Amino acid sequence: MKDYFVLSNGVKIPSIGFGTWQIPDGTDCYLSVMLALKLGYRHIDTALAYGNERSVGKAIRDSKLKREEVFVTTKLPAQYKTYDEAIKYFNESLENLGLNYIDLYLIHAPWPWAEVGKDCTKGNVEVWKAFVKLYNEGKVKSIGVSNFRETDIRPLVEETNFMPHVNQIRFFISNIQEDVVKYCKENNILVEAYSPLGTGKLLGNEEINEVAKKYNVSAARLCIKYCLQKDTLPLPKSTHEDRIKANLEMDFDISDEDMKKLDNVKIEELYRELRS
Ligand code: A2P
Repeated sequence: MKDYFVLSNGVKIPSIGFGTWQIPDGTDCYLSVMLALKLGYRHIDTALAYGNERSVGKAIRDSKLKREEVFVTTKLPAQYKTYDEAIKYFNESLENLGLNYIDLYLIHAPWPWAEVGKDCTKGNVEVWKAFVKLYNEGKVKSIGVSNFRETDIRPLVEETNFMPHVNQIRFFISNIQEDVVKYCKENNILVEAYSPLGTGKLLGNEEINEVAKKYNVSAARLCIKYCLQKDTLPLPKSTHEDRIKANLEMDFDISDEDMKKLDNVKIEELYRELRS
């Protein structure tokens, strides 16, 4: 397994990130991130909207790792769509985390979560201009988007001539977002896979378990490896030591034939495509 992906600006990003969505702030989050760092993760993914940046930052600082040894991602909440709000809430994230720069800053979604699908093109462009400014000032080492379709990304690039480095999307076996992934690959945008285990719902699937058995690995490890072999960067989340550890162990390869088999797994209730 490669240790990191290289973004279009040359920045190296460790190839598995530790996801912290839904890990409550406080002891749970602090201990999980501490454990993840102890067990070898060097990439932590959080967001202002997760409400746990303070615990993430404290764990990173207390880990005694050097700042440049840990890749930290956070996100601008989806409802803020002005230039000034982007700067304001970026500074709030920095303060919460207690860091003086962020490795990757993402627009959390193209629309507020309460208004999914709303056209916020104008606001996204405004926000993107603020992101480019933060990038040019060195306050963030790379910038990107999350949950964006091709039609959401195009206007950003047309207005600023700055292509996002990353698009973080809901990606896992049975939800492989072929349209948006194709666009990202053609434009050298790294796709990050959030919920690589389908928030755990893939783990009981019979077809997945059958393939996993062949490699003598858990369904979780197979799902994570699948993302990597699709050239996406998985962000698995767990609060259990044995799982946090296992989710980093990728010393096996899924054959082309089995990848195809997994490509064809259909789980109706988990399928939700980002459409252009
Ligand atoms: P827990 O936090 O109790 O370990 P996703 O990364 O797709 O969001 O999935 C996260 C869910 O999958 C969580 O409920 C997490 O539970 C569970 N999970 C994470 N890693 C494993 C694993 N290796 N084996 C079983 N369940 C796991």
